[in-house]
Amino acid sequence: MSARLAGRTVVLTGASSGIGAEAARKLARQGATVCLLARREDELESVRADIAVAGGDAHTYAVDLTDDEQTRLVIDRLLAEHPSIDALVNNAARSIRRPIVESVDRMHDFERTMAVNYFGAVRLTLALVPRFVEQGHGHVVISSSMSTQVPIPLFSAYLASKSALESFTRSLSAELGSDGISTTVVHFPMVRTPMSGGTDIYRAMPMLTADRAANWLVKAVVDRPTRVTSLQGAAAEIAMAAVPGVVTAGLRPAFRAMDRVLAKRAAADRT
Ligand SMILES: NC(=O)c1ccc[n+]([C@@H]2O[C@H](COP(=O)([O-])OP(=O)(O)OC[C@H]3O[C@@H](n4cnc5c(N)ncnc54)[C@H](OP(=O)(O)O)[C@@H]3O)[C@@H](O)[C@H]2O)c1
Repeated sequence: MSARLAGRTVVLTGASSGIGAEAARKLARQGATVCLLARREDELESVRADIAVAGGDAHTYAVDLTDDEQTRLVIDRLLAEHPSIDALVNNAARSIRRPIVESVDRMHDFERTMAVNYFGAVRLTLALVPRFVEQGHGHVVISSSMSTQVPIPLFSAYLASKSALESFTRSLSAELGSDGISTTVVHFPMVRTPMSGGTDIYRAMPMLTADRAANWLVKAVVDRPTRVTSLQGAAAEIAMAAVPGVVTAGLRPAFRAMDRVLAKRAAADRT
């Protein structure tokens, strides 16, 4: 077990599935007490049971993070049951893949992605800030996407909510960094989980496994870097800073071609 997480308490949202469930198991293996948040109680309980069998310590908190009252009750329990909370991992999210021209009558797509991905995370973070300040330390991690590093089509509602959360997280660091509050933005590439599984053509796309992606969250909690990114994501950010017009124009045909190739491969897989 890593000494760096022994005695640490980590609150992790989206712990019932995908990257969050794998990260919960790994954080617990490294000595952290993990507080598992998501809506589905049975799935949370199954992750908790795995952790307990492996000798770890986990606690479940079933909550819909879009619901202010439910979240308030869970926050009260978290604060009462854990005298120290060392890290919050804002990982719960929903994704929507839809062209903007097909979204013109779907304002609710933008509202429901913001409800979980942005307001849900902000609500929880704000509630824990006083505890972090009182302790003199606290680390906030957010699960974001490589797709906020470059202009990507078809995910406008989802990516806007992730960019908003990144911005909030940067403000947190700028305002409270000297009070001991640190932050990490994790820019995941595509990861094979129920979220990415919602898009048929992505079956043919090479992706990180949830197990490997979970290591990125563990690194964020253990090392507390400002960000965790792929090399491609970092290179894309530099290119965007230097020549945004060229990158944006160059990527448009590249994404159309990629979608055509993936659709062909997915169709071939089905036959
Ligand atoms: N998969 C990818 O390719 C990819 C790429 C870039 C970034 N990411 C990011 O990585 C993170 C994890 O995604 P994943 O791929 O592991 O997705 P996932 O398997 O679909 O997990 C999403 C998690 O969010 C929870 N959740 C959703 N709505 C919620 C709500 N209203 N209240 C509480 N919990 C809620 C879900 O639990 P319940 O349904 O039980 O509530 C689930 O545990 C997300 O932030 C995602 O945006 C993923």
